[in-house]
Amino acid sequence: MRVLLIGSGAREHVIAETFKKNKDVELYSFMKSKNPGIASLSKDILIGSYSDLGGITNFAKQNNIDFAFIGPEDPLNEGVVDELQENGISAVGPTKLMARLETSKSFTRELVEKYKIGGNPKFKVFTKEYIDEIKEFLNEIEGIVVKPDGLTGGKGVKVQGDHFNTKEEALTYCREVLESHASVIVEEKLDGEEFSLQCLTDGKTVIAPPPAQDHKRAYDDDKGQNTGGMGSYSCANHLLPFLKKEHIDKALEITKKTADAIYKETGLYYNGVMYGGFILTKDGVKLLEYNARFGDPEAMNVLPLLKTDFASICQAIIVQELNRIKVVFEKKATVCKYVVPEGYPDAPIKNEKVLVEGNGKAKVYYASVDEKEDGLYMTGSRAIAFLGVGDNLEEAEKIAEEAACSVKGRIFHRKDIGTKALIEKRVKHVGSF
Ligand code: GLY
Repeated sequence: MRVLLIGSGAREHVIAETFKKNKDVELYSFMKSKNPGIASLSKDILIGSYSDLGGITNFAKQNNIDFAFIGPEDPLNEGVVDELQENGISAVGPTKLMARLETSKSFTRELVEKYKIGGNPKFKVFTKEYIDEIKEFLNEIEGIVVKPDGLTGGKGVKVQGDHFNTKEEALTYCREVLESHASVIVEEKLDGEEFSLQCLTDGKTVIAPPPAQDHKRAYDDDKGQNTGGMGSYSCANHLLPFLKKEHIDKALEITKKTADAIYKETGLYYNGVMYGGFILTKDGVKLLEYNARFGDPEAMNVLPLLKTDFASICQAIIVQELNRIKVVFEKKATVCKYVVPEGYPDAPIKNEKVLVEGNGKAKVYYASVDEKEDGLYMTGSRAIAFLGVGDNLEEAEKIAEEAACSVKGRIFHRKDIGTKALIEKRVKHVGSF
């Protein structure tokens, strides 16, 4: 089986590893920059831009690809699935229209509202013509979140208390967003604990892997700037310490209803990953956003636990027969920790050498690194992820922490992810509602 994998981060490294558990899979990888981990698992690679849809399709045709799997959101937003399909190549991942689930926050909020799915906070979408009404809505909500309607590389969402304080500042940011985006979403800020449920779907059947929790802040104890995610964990019982089964069931129900709503709205079945960012609040489970891809780092919490052949799952998704596959995840705990360059995320050092020793127990996934003749160099974003897998969180955390500590260079990582103290803080937070 010949699979085209698009993407070059640690998320795609773990996707590549998961495909390669099946010895019959030959991997062909299209990357933005050369990920040494993905390259070592691939029969052939091509480095290029995600907007070069012709180049991607030609690479797929030359290698007689059976299907493509798309890792990041950018190629989905470029319409890579549409282009591949027009050339007779199947793909796991939504078309540009369907990827609006991630690329248009207003599409998702309005869909969830229209089909009475539940889980939305109070929100309103504003275009330039209605700018004067924003002020009125800001007076109706407790805390404020402002989201540009479109992809912003994780940098566009601004939250009251973190990025701005007053309503006037919120309004100024809304105006700024409307200079470059067609619309802006203003939402009520929710207090609670976040979790990620990265469901697989063919549009008819929705399968939930174990939930995971990411850590967005750069430093220990949730201090510092928001990042792409400094690390994440999942538990052997496929819950999280602050979540009950009913909460996961609710998140899955919202996702199933959303998949149904997409079909009703467009007449088409959504195909690929529906990664729901949820938050458990005093009023129950709420939806923060959907992503049309696996999470990074959360992909590393779930894919290594997958016992079912991933290529077979993908083939079933393509022919809309996911209901025929029994998808099983191992009952293990995982802790993932990212090692990042000094100064990340705002002013990361670049082109600095990094020496990865590992500890022989943790899985190692490469992200923003460049492999040169004399070793690995960091390119500015999250560099290397270490994953510990164990019977419990303590064991998994120890493996990941030891491995992260073994890296030599101008780097740092969060020591507290997956530790008892931080988990207790999360549980206490939920208990205080
Ligand atoms: N972990 C955050 C994301 O993948 O968007």
